[in-house]
Amino acid sequence: MTLSAKDRLIVALDVDNQEHALSLVDQLKPFVGLFKIGSQLFTSAGPGLVSEVIRRGAKVFLDLKYHDIPNTVASAVVAAMRLGVSICNVHALGGLEMMCQVREECERVAARENLTKPILLAVTVLTSHDQASINSLGFNEPLNELVVGLAKLTAKAGLDGVVASAHEIGLVRTAVNNSFIVLTPGLRPSWAANQDQKRVMTPEQALINGADYLVIGRPILADPSPANAAQKVLASLEKAVISSKD
Ligand code: C5P
Repeated sequence: MTLSAKDRLIVALDVDNQEHALSLVDQLKPFVGLFKIGSQLFTSAGPGLVSEVIRRGAKVFLDLKYHDIPNTVASAVVAAMRLGVSICNVHALGGLEMMCQVREECERVAARENLTKPILLAVTVLTSHDQASINSLGFNEPLNELVVGLAKLTAKAGLDGVVASAHEIGLVRTAVNNSFIVLTPGLRPSWAANQDQKRVMTPEQALINGADYLVIGRPILADPSPANAAQKVLASLEKAVISSKD
């Protein structure tokens, strides 16, 4: 299935209450494919918010990065599927057995309860890690090799793809097959401030480099008109999709 520019754009609902989140959903829905609900908003507003966003006709990426024993993570992902989320994620460092059990349990319950299996992604190495912090955890290989190894493990488990920084897209793309999904945060439109994101890329460049989904937070949320900012990002993505077909 070919995704439109709008289908690919995910806005991170990094706010701390339901009212603010739902007002953003209502304003941004015409320009955005999915809304990302992460641990801050989920912990304060709960699963009821996920259901309400979906009830309003929007799709949800539940970004809770589960990391626990296989049975617990598989049960959590099934609970997310029953809520109706379109994308959810786990830590690849949870291991092959955990990721396999997640996929198998999702497929089993989806078939039995006639549900749509969410896109299942894994986080490889958090971008807050550098080589020194990885070494301090006992990993001795170069960071890039660890990212590639975990992306391959994710593919082996049959998950659908990974979350990767814009600068890792090429690495991941050469390591796994073409249908593997790459979802990329840490993006900044040319007109936006970088905030604490250090190695940023524009959304249109990330798309051209092979990202399937693009996550953007503050450049849209902190704009005086979030709808206007989302519309600008969408227009630049549409232009990039058209020029990449030329
Ligand atoms: O506001 P900003 O566009 O930086 O937000 C991006 C979103 O993606 C946030 O929810 C952040 O937690 C998440 N994220 C990120 N960089 C990563 C991984 C996740 O910004 N490397």
